[in-house]
Order: sequence, then C-alpha cells, then structure tokens
Amino acid sequence: MAVNSRISGLKDRSVAERRALVADGAGVDAAALTALDAGGLTVEQADHMIENVVGTIAIPLGVATNMTVNGRDYLVPMATEEASVVAAASNAARIARVHGGFHASGTGPVMIAQIQLLGAVDPHGARARVLEARQEVLDLANAQDPVLTRLGGGARELTARVLETRDGTQVIVHLHVDVRDAMGANAVNTMAEAVAPVLAERAGARSLLRILSNKADTRLVRARAVFDAELLGGPRVVDDIVSASAFAEADPYRAATHNKGIMNGISAVVLATGNDTRAVEAGCHSHAARDGRYTALSRFEKDRDGNLTGTLEVPMPVGLVGGATRAHPAAQTAIRILGVTSATELAEVIVSVGLAQNLAACRALAAEGIQHGHMRLHARTVAASAGASPRRCGTSRNGSSRTAGSRWSTPARCWSRCGAGTVEHAGPLAARADRGADRDGAGPGARLRGRAA
Ligand code: MEV
Repeated sequence: MAVNSRISGLKDRSVAERRALVADGAGVDAAALTALDAGGLTVEQADHMIENVVGTIAIPLGVATNMTVNGRDYLVPMATEEASVVAAASNAARIARVHGGFHASGTGPVMIAQIQLLGAVDPHGARARVLEARQEVLDLANAQDPVLTRLGGGARELTARVLETRDGTQVIVHLHVDVRDAMGANAVNTMAEAVAPVLAERAGARSLLRILSNKADTRLVRARAVFDAELLGGPRVVDDIVSASAFAEADPYRAATHNKGIMNGISAVVLATGNDTRAVEAGCHSHAARDGRYTALSRFEKDRDGNLTGTLEVPMPVGLVGGATRAHPAAQTAIRILGVTSATELAEVIVSVGLAQNLAACRALAAEGIQHGHMRLHARTVAASAGASPRRCGTSRNGSSRTAGSRWSTPARCWSRCGAGTVEHAGPLAARADRGADRDGAGPGARLRGRAA
C-alpha cells in the first residue's frame, strides 16, 4: 500500500487518534500500535536483553510526517526526550516536498573488521604475504556464515597496511564484509576471529584485536534536498543559512553543535528502530574528523534558482535483523510503521531525517533564534512534570502557562516551525507547501492548508 506521510493536524489529536491515523497512513493494523504502550517492553523481556535488569526506562515515541525519500512517503517513528525535534523534522520535510523531497543513495552495506598483527620482523613482507592469502581468507570468513552468503552477502575484500605506533610497527588487516540487512557486528566479529590465526601464521606475527571498526566509511549514505527559498523565509534566510553552514565547516566548536542537531534526528530514528545509537554516533563523528580536523557533516548551498540545497553524507550501520531490532516489540512496531524492507532503505530514511533536522535548526538559528520557541516548549514540559495534564496546559504566546481546557499547542514561532509558520502566521507559505504535496500526488493539500506538522 502506498503510504501518505501528509497527515493533517496530527499534533492536535489525542494519542489514541494519532495511533489510528498513523496506523491508517502506514497501512498497519491499529492493534499493532498497542505494542507501544508503557515503552513497549516488559521487565521480563528486558531481562533477556541485558544483565542485572531491575526495570526499564521509557522515552517518548513520536511520528514525523511529510517525509518523502526517493519518491516514497514515510511516516517516521522517532524516540527522543527533546521537545521540538519531531515537529522540526516534519516541518523541514514539508518544505522539501515542494521540490521532490529527499534523494538518498549509498555505497552498500559493507562493514570492516580489523585484525591487528604484532611482532612481524618484516612488516612489509608480512603485509604482502597476508594479501597473497586473500582467497583462502575470504573463503574461510564466508564459511562462518552460510546464511549471509546465501542471502548474497559475505566477505568481499581483504586489505592490509603497515602502521607505525608508539608501541612499534604493526600490520593492520581489514576484512570487508557485505552484511546485507544486518548491522553486522556479530557477523564480522565472528569472521575476524576465525581468520586471525591464518593471517597471523602468514605474517609470522601474533594476532591481538579482532573487532569491527565503527568508522563505517564503506557503508556511507548520502541525502540531498532542495528547500524552497520562499518557504524558508526569503533570500536573506537562504544566504544566512549558507553563512551558518560555512561557520560550521570552518569551526569545530560550531561543528559539534551543528552535528548534534543532525544527530537529534538520526539518533531518534536509530533508537526507535532498536538499532545501536553508539555505533552510529561513533561512525558519524569519526566521519566528521576524517580529514584530520572535526567539521560539519552537512553542507548548505544556494542553487541557481535561489533555493537552498542541503547535502549530508554519513556512515549508517543499521540493520533490520538481529539485536534489539528483533527482540524489542516497540522497535518491531516502529519498523512496521516505517514500512522499510531493507537495511539500506532504513539507512536512507535515517540520513534524510538527519538532514531535515539540521535544516530546521539552522533555519531557526539564522532567523529568529531557537530560544523563544524552545523555552515555550520547555515551559510545557515543566508544567507537565508539575502534574498538569497535556490537555489542560500549554503555553501562551508570551510563554506563560495556559490552562482552562486549552489543548497542547506548538508555539507559533518555535524553532521547529522551520519557517512554515502556522495558520495565522504563514498561511500562504504553508498552502504552497501543501500544493507541493498535491503535485507529488501525496495527498489532499488544500485541506491541509495552514497546518504545521
Ligand atoms: C539543539 O538540540 C540542537 C541545536 O543546537 C543544533 C544547532 O545548533 O544547529 C539547535
């Protein structure tokens, strides 16, 4: 079933209504979403996942709307404790829809296992002998995982280099493995341990570490999108986002925060789908420092028509099989909502969300600043933690607490608005975004006029 990620007024609905709309939009059985109750994991299930379990901790799971990636709509589950993130991604995605949404591609799901060889008396000769054993090593690696090879994956290549360290010269061997729909840590670690004795014997060395590398730069995914200048707030905002992007490229202090904004989106989807957030974060940050200096992961430029183009390329080692993705009922539900059928497709959606999140933050920073809206949402969280019910409290235009039966309301100009505005502030712009959605054949745009997320 074709998914329509344009859902009108999701933020104004009750949780039950949202579930029904999301289930309907994603084409999944509404009952499946009850797996999301209470964090989606019983203590008994948790007890099978890690050691010394004493409980579970729940994180809000929201659904970002408006995402189109490679011409397909996605409703995107995001697990995050940070207000504004889901709305920001949704609004940026809506702006991107006008020019066709996100386009994503990648290198394929290849992971690297490292085998460290110590004590070779002739390290360069050892390297050459290791490479001569290429076919034997690949065959031995593939014999460890017949299922993976049957699915079209398996060990593909062997590389080696001589590394000078403060502890002497070492030979470092890389085994490149196509892990298909797995994150791949288990598969490549098993292979690395199996081939290490052969490598050590050929090198005349001793093997020490045998483990995957989280610098997954053979599993890169890139996303790009065009963000309409008018919907962003005009040519000045476009120029200022380009300047903000240049700042992040040039300055590691700004780059760390810029990249944190990207990770707000990426980590939320990685967590929602039961994937390894630390592996993805290690991969992204190591990629940001790939040229020896930490820099921004994304780039924003102005195109010939004066619109903003955004690009983001990062390692994305995520899987659909194994680990918590399989074991966690809520992660399974998240994947059903998302409707992806391969790890590559999942990775492409995740990187697109990272770019959407980044655009939303940069636009707000380059325009009104984030603090105004952020503090309003913060006030809402404070009110909720003080015991007020979501339906009975909110924030007023001036950030003060709202009561007396009013509904949750995303602030008119919070950073997550991302220039799309609200009914009263940006009707014509929002209407244009909606018309874009119609052009995409993605839904009843006119009906959605003036709506945000
Ligand atoms: C806040 O969680 C993320 C931002 O700081 C990102 C950025 O500065 O680009 C708004």
